[in-house]
Amino acid sequence: MNSLFSDCPDRRGTGSIKWDLKPSLDPFWVADMDFVSPEPVLGALSQRVNHGVFGYAQAHEGLIEAVVIYLRERHGHAVASEQIVHLGGLVPALSLAARAFGESGDALMTCTPVYPPFLSVANDAGMETIRVPHRLENGQWTFDWEAMEQNVTQRTRLFLLCNPQNPLGRCFTMEEVQQVASFCQRHDLILVSDEIHCDLVLNETETPFFSALRLAESFHEKLIVLQSPSKTYNIAGLGYAYAVIPNAQVRKRFEKAKGHTSPEINALAYYAAEAAYRHGEPWRQELIRYLGKNRDLVEEFVPDHLPKVHLPKIEATYLAWLETSACGMKNPARAAEEQGLFLSDGAYFGYPQAMRLNFATQQDRVLEALEKISEIDGLADM
Ligand SMILES: Cc1ncc(COP(=O)(O)O)c(C=O)c1O
Repeated sequence: MNSLFSDCPDRRGTGSIKWDLKPSLDPFWVADMDFVSPEPVLGALSQRVNHGVFGYAQAHEGLIEAVVIYLRERHGHAVASEQIVHLGGLVPALSLAARAFGESGDALMTCTPVYPPFLSVANDAGMETIRVPHRLENGQWTFDWEAMEQNVTQRTRLFLLCNPQNPLGRCFTMEEVQQVASFCQRHDLILVSDEIHCDLVLNETETPFFSALRLAESFHEKLIVLQSPSKTYNIAGLGYAYAVIPNAQVRKRFEKAKGHTSPEINALAYYAAEAAYRHGEPWRQELIRYLGKNRDLVEEFVPDHLPKVHLPKIEATYLAWLETSACGMKNPARAAEEQGLFLSDGAYFGYPQAMRLNFATQQDRVLEALEKISEIDGLADM
């Protein structure tokens, strides 16, 4: 089954951001995978293409049912179909949430390092971003509860949570998610929980995922959960995501903020998403096994060959956060470019002294990248 992942058609010249943005470099940056999507997704797309008519689309009954079943069976939460808002992407949804619940002079809070749009969507609403650094505790990243309390203001309106966390790879525990929710409740904040990586937990027995949808009902008044099958099934280029918003008034305000800024979702995306949720699970299980091996490779290589680089234990995602401040490096991503590698620059996540490696690719490529990283002057020095 691993042959599903050990080969990938050449992606160069296919309009791929990852491969075509800087064609002279070997790409390990943006979060998509060098794997062909599951067969049932390809089948559903072909069937829809063969139909041949591509007028305006809406979420069809089969998709809505697939989402409801997925949320119930995977996350143990009964969601009514009217609580789901269909969207063309999660990033637009983060912006929508900011515009719906904040205005000029207000603020939103998020913890860093974090997926870059978390740090800039506040601008869409003329708001400030309050950045609270995550705190390292016993070698693992968690929240700095004290700093959150100290920095929250009267005009803070939202808290953006990234769980599982990109780029730190944490899958936050039930207790951590509950504590975030209590913090939001205490300060009357809308909790926006981006859970796009939740089906990429590498060992669910050790680190089970706790969706914000599983919080007690009292937390549902001001909750927006953002989801998509796009990361897990490698269909991000098709553009489909959704928000689950249990409270009707919050949902109405969120939808109203769209104004005329959200184009219709494309007809193919809906069918790919439905097939992924209905039939993708066996493929996903194989994917997790493959990614788990790549994760092990990275976690074994770094302490052996790059002892001064800090790598958190990767519980979820296919992203490795390589933090190089102990090596005195100002911009490791630039140094990696000199080795022919394109990694994500930590500066965009709020930490220039780090870089992010995407290991959702063939194992030999991961190993080659690690070897080249270990040749960067200053990184491997003991
Ligand atoms: C945490 C997180 N949210 C959202 C996205 C992107 O979502 P979309 O492509 O639906 O805008 C990513 C992509 O890497 C991500 O890591």
